[in-house]
Amino acid sequence: MTQEHASRRRRRLTATVTDLEVAIQRAFLVGVELPGMTTVDSERSLEELALLTDTAGSEPVDQELVRRTRIDPATYIGSGKAEEIATLTNALDIDVVVFDNQLTPAQQRNLQKLFGCDVVDREGLILDIFAQHAHTKVGALQVELAMNRYNLPRLRGRGTSLSQQGAGVLARGPGETKLETDRRRILERNSKLERELKETVKHRETQRKARKRSDIAQISIVGYTNAGKSTLLNAVTNADVLVEDRLFATLDSTVRRLELTDQQTVLLADTVGFVRRLPHHLVEAFRSTLSEVAEADLLLHVVDGTDPDPAGQIAAVREVLLEIGAAEIPELTVINKSDVIGEQALKRLTNLYPDAVFISALKGLGLEELLERIGSLVERATVTLTLEIPYARGDLVAAVHRVGEVIEEKHDDNGMILEVRVPETARAQFAPFSR
Ligand code: GTP
Repeated sequence: MTQEHASRRRRRLTATVTDLEVAIQRAFLVGVELPGMTTVDSERSLEELALLTDTAGSEPVDQELVRRTRIDPATYIGSGKAEEIATLTNALDIDVVVFDNQLTPAQQRNLQKLFGCDVVDREGLILDIFAQHAHTKVGALQVELAMNRYNLPRLRGRGTSLSQQGAGVLARGPGETKLETDRRRILERNSKLERELKETVKHRETQRKARKRSDIAQISIVGYTNAGKSTLLNAVTNADVLVEDRLFATLDSTVRRLELTDQQTVLLADTVGFVRRLPHHLVEAFRSTLSEVAEADLLLHVVDGTDPDPAGQIAAVREVLLEIGAAEIPELTVINKSDVIGEQALKRLTNLYPDAVFISALKGLGLEELLERIGSLVERATVTLTLEIPYARGDLVAAVHRVGEVIEEKHDDNGMILEVRVPETARAQFAPFSR
């Protein structure tokens, strides 16, 4: 092993939060098809794994789909297959083997030993990407906590893998005492992170409640990763949200005001992109980021129209929506990238999704229609009231303007008579003045 290779290898893919240096590593991908899974699904999942690996900053060099009738407790794929892959990874000078499945810490350790290089599973990989994309405080706290929880049972594996790379001092692996100290340190750090996260989330809740009180409709953009959610948010609100041709460019949600018309304003939030088989653990870990979605009045479900399997994308997103309690929220399907969808595909998509709006967020096509559709969907949730407001209650008039619109205004001796359109949710606030 050359010295350069050795040092590259030491910068592992499953970096810790404080050691986020991820160099371009050569990755070998392994998918495992178990009974009950279709080959098409396994292949798609492996394709997605290649994209995820690339997003994490590694280069997928080669891959193999392994068919198994059962999971091997020691190596997941069976020792014979593991030996075969070890020969391949050696020949290809691989730095990391990425599994499309969830490995136990013991399986990961055993495979690392066999392959002589790092082994990462799907959850570790997604965590690594999350770590690179957490920009806000809550995002960073969630990532660090999730990463520590993931790493804790794997501490021993780390030592073994380092010692295999010829790091002399670690040749015998870390002693129990060091392991215990590391473990305690991580547990202590986690308690601190949990406290901090709780505080920060509480603060955000207060902000969110204030927004909710303002009774402006909240719309969340959801969709499969790389569908174009950030591009759409930028296109309609001039927000400067990072757009990248990578997965999970957005980890923390961004909320922007969007004026549909002079009278109608909504709040639009971008969210983390969803993927197939987002590990349950991670959905749990990012619940506070995702809970914003569950409170939305309307979901814009952005779909990449150029994807070979839009229905699969949609299903993957809906699965997460179900898990976070957002499955019942009205949803508008938005098929994006219409600028590069071929005629045939366009026809097929129109048939499949007759109620969808077709747009190109990048080229600004179809946005007007989209805003109109949003407007009418949001409007359905409004009520028209006639209010008698004493002249002294200018604050109420201001409140109407803030959350809705005045359709007609008359004056008499006692005050103003307003015909107003306000969100259904604001009805109670104006009820005492309603005729
Ligand atoms: P995540 O943060 O990973 O969930 O991604 P996202 O859904 O926010 O996607 P993003 O807006 O970052 O866009 C992903 C890629 O698709 C970028 O390279 C965009 O330039 C591209 N893209 C977005 N909208 C369009 C479009 O209408 N047409 C074309 N051709 N490309 C688009």
